[in-house]
Amino acid sequence: MVSDAPKHYPVLLKELVSIISPQHGGTFIDCTFGQGGYSKEILKFKNTKVIAFDRDIDSKPKAVEIEKNFSERFIFKNKKFSQLEDLKIKNENVKGIIFDLGFSYTQIKDASKGLSFYSHGKLNMRMGLNSFSADDVINKLNEKELEKIFKFFGEEKEAKKIAINIARKRKKNKIDTKSLVELIEKTKIKKNFKLHSATKVFQALRIFVNKEITELISGLISATKVLKKDGILAIVTFHSLEDKIVKYFFKSLSEKKSISRYMPKLEQSEIIFNMPEKKPITPSTKELKENISSRSAKLRYVIKKDDVYKFETDIYEKFQYLIEIENIGNKL
Ligand SMILES: C[S@@+](CC[C@H](N)C(=O)[O-])C[C@H]1O[C@@H](n2cnc3c(N)ncnc32)[C@H](O)[C@@H]1O
Repeated sequence: MVSDAPKHYPVLLKELVSIISPQHGGTFIDCTFGQGGYSKEILKFKNTKVIAFDRDIDSKPKAVEIEKNFSERFIFKNKKFSQLEDLKIKNENVKGIIFDLGFSYTQIKDASKGLSFYSHGKLNMRMGLNSFSADDVINKLNEKELEKIFKFFGEEKEAKKIAINIARKRKKNKIDTKSLVELIEKTKIKKNFKLHSATKVFQALRIFVNKEITELISGLISATKVLKKDGILAIVTFHSLEDKIVKYFFKSLSEKKSISRYMPKLEQSEIIFNMPEKKPITPSTKELKENISSRSAKLRYVIKKDDVYKFETDIYEKFQYLIEIENIGNKL
């Protein structure tokens, strides 16, 4: 979530709560704790318990505050949501698992994280528990690799030219946040007056540095395993790549017909979810007025049909081309 609003603002909160129904009690997993907006709302209902994850250690002080008031019903883990299954939550009555993807207002305002193109200094973009930074990416990967990252993760049409200019410039000087923004502004011919010239490259770098595609796919699979019968899996996405992955995962495990040439057997395998709404839920006019940065938010959800913990999915094959690009980072 990119926020221009003056404070942290949990997106689609009312809609999310009405879907997961915490008034009936149970355990909820908040995979993206952030500033705790969703967790706090769930804990208002008496018979609930929340297990929260965030990869950013800077979320911890907020979590400690909540722990003081709800020591029996709240646990925080500074872990990535791809590590969901490492937790011994087999005995929990998991009624809902929620993901609010991307980054928070607090993170974008933290100049040291370098998520905003208005920050200065060394490139970073690590949200936490990373193995390399945007500085490594921009100053070490070759032209072709950079082009792929900008093209596929940012849908940047001028990816090639930008990559060539980066490779040229870094021969003389190391590139930092400010010089990267200037380079992009100078390189791009097609200006979009609604979007900052660096938006797409910055989104691409953030996805790459945080391995967001691999994280999301792994998180979706683990969440599906951990959820109990009638439990709800709800995801808020903020860009088309994320939404495409979530939509495919939900649809492919909700429909009876074979949806992929890779996995014709799906017809015989179990159908894991009910998907009550085919279209995503988007922010109301009121929310858009209060927080314009919620404009790209999409909420999708499914309900688990049975207590099934093993299932087949072709999601890795389907998005292999993106995972391969993320794996370029393994050599950094
Ligand atoms: C949009 S914010 C969530 C805001 C939260 N819903 C609230 O109301 O305060 C996203 C959070 O998810 C965290 N995050 C992103 N990817 C993650 C991952 N793979 N594992 C764990 N946390 C992640 C970020 O560090 C950030 O704090």
